[in-house]
Amino acid sequence: MKVIVTGGAGFIGSAVVRHMINNTTHKVLNIDKLTYAGNLESLGSIENSTRYHFSHTDICDRSALDKIFFEFQPDAIMHLAAESHVDRSITGSATFIETNIIGTYQLLEVTRHYWNQLDIDKKQVFRFHHISTDEVYGDLDDTNDLFLETTPYAPSSPYSASKASSDHLVRAWHRTYGLPIVLTNCSNNYGPFHFPEKLIPLVILNALAGKALPVYGNGAQIRDWLYVEDHARALYQVLTEAKVGETYNIGGHNEQKNIDVVKAICRLLEELAPNKPQGVKNYEDLICYVADRPGHDLRYAIDASKIKQDLGWIPQESFETGLRKTVAWYLANQEWVQHIQSGEYQNWIQQQYDSTTD
Ligand code: NAD
Ligand code: DAU
Repeated sequence: MKVIVTGGAGFIGSAVVRHMINNTTHKVLNIDKLTYAGNLESLGSIENSTRYHFSHTDICDRSALDKIFFEFQPDAIMHLAAESHVDRSITGSATFIETNIIGTYQLLEVTRHYWNQLDIDKKQVFRFHHISTDEVYGDLDDTNDLFLETTPYAPSSPYSASKASSDHLVRAWHRTYGLPIVLTNCSNNYGPFHFPEKLIPLVILNALAGKALPVYGNGAQIRDWLYVEDHARALYQVLTEAKVGETYNIGGHNEQKNIDVVKAICRLLEELAPNKPQGVKNYEDLICYVADRPGHDLRYAIDASKIKQDLGWIPQESFETGLRKTVAWYLANQEWVQHIQSGEYQNWIQQQYDSTTD
């Protein structure tokens, strides 16, 4: 197979590219604009493979996409390129509308025209896999409710509204034009190569630097954490095994309160990084409650029984083993961290945390 992965230089996209290069014989073309979140160093382990190719392209650029499709002749698209950080969508929503909605629209149109001219056999096996989020469902009360594939959409943030919008476009292109799509909605990922604007890597790196560990509101919000390599495996299975038009929820069966996640990281650091920064007695002493995120979703939790039943997928990593691996990875990969902590990253941290600190 020849597979186009959009957003392959990002956190999850790079795990998907590494998975396919390491575990299959497919050719992979990574299309990425290399925003602040895109980092080719995350692909260093596979960049010399003759089956891996990269195109520095914006998914909003229709004519560039047309040319790429014509030259590469893909059998499948895995669409991960997106603006992905909720807090950034609150302070600046324009790029979220641009990339997540308009970019997905452009990609769908290019794919539709390309797919229309394929011969019948290729047309049947072709897939457009749209990678989305559980945030499209809004939040759950603090009960035993779970997100099902049939849960109505009720997004809360500009980010989740833009992803919900892209999901609707993808399903409409299937229903109206017959485009062979599959769609997945996943819970919070964590693991290696995660950009440190997100909770888990932010807390690990702040703690190691002796900086405050910012917990929004009371820290009682709940997320369902999935190790990124488990997600990459699930995505590949859905791409290659799911029926056209299907949607799968993907989750880790790992519901955790934010404050418990932060404390678990502190405990791991006590063990794995006992030489603390000057003036720090216990990592937990760095925890600091800050102003809440506007519109903050209280609880996400996925019912992943459909993907288990249909495709036999279950996560291999528990939260305990995955978090330990993640903390160990950040300790061992300080160079990767230093390279991404650019001027743009410093600006974001200053802007975000100066305004949210109580
Ligand atoms: P990320 O922010 O780490 O990476 C996004 C990638 O997309 C980057 O490499 C960036 O350069 C690229 N990109 C952004 N705009 C682009 C454009 N206009 N053209 C081409 N490339 C562009 O994101 P992630 O966390 O890896 O998430 C990947 C996908 O998975 C997103 O669609 C996100 O909505 C979805 N998702 C993420 C999570 C999570 O926990 N991170 C969970 C569920 C679903
Ligand atoms: O559920 C899937 C979603 O998970 C993805 O679609 C998003 O792309 C991804 O970013 C993630 O969204 P969250 O908003 O849940 O992730 P984040 O790491 O930003 O925050 C996790 C929780 O921690 C959330 O309740 C907000 C809180 N938080 C976050 C930061 C950055 C804090 O308390 N302090 C912080 O400094």
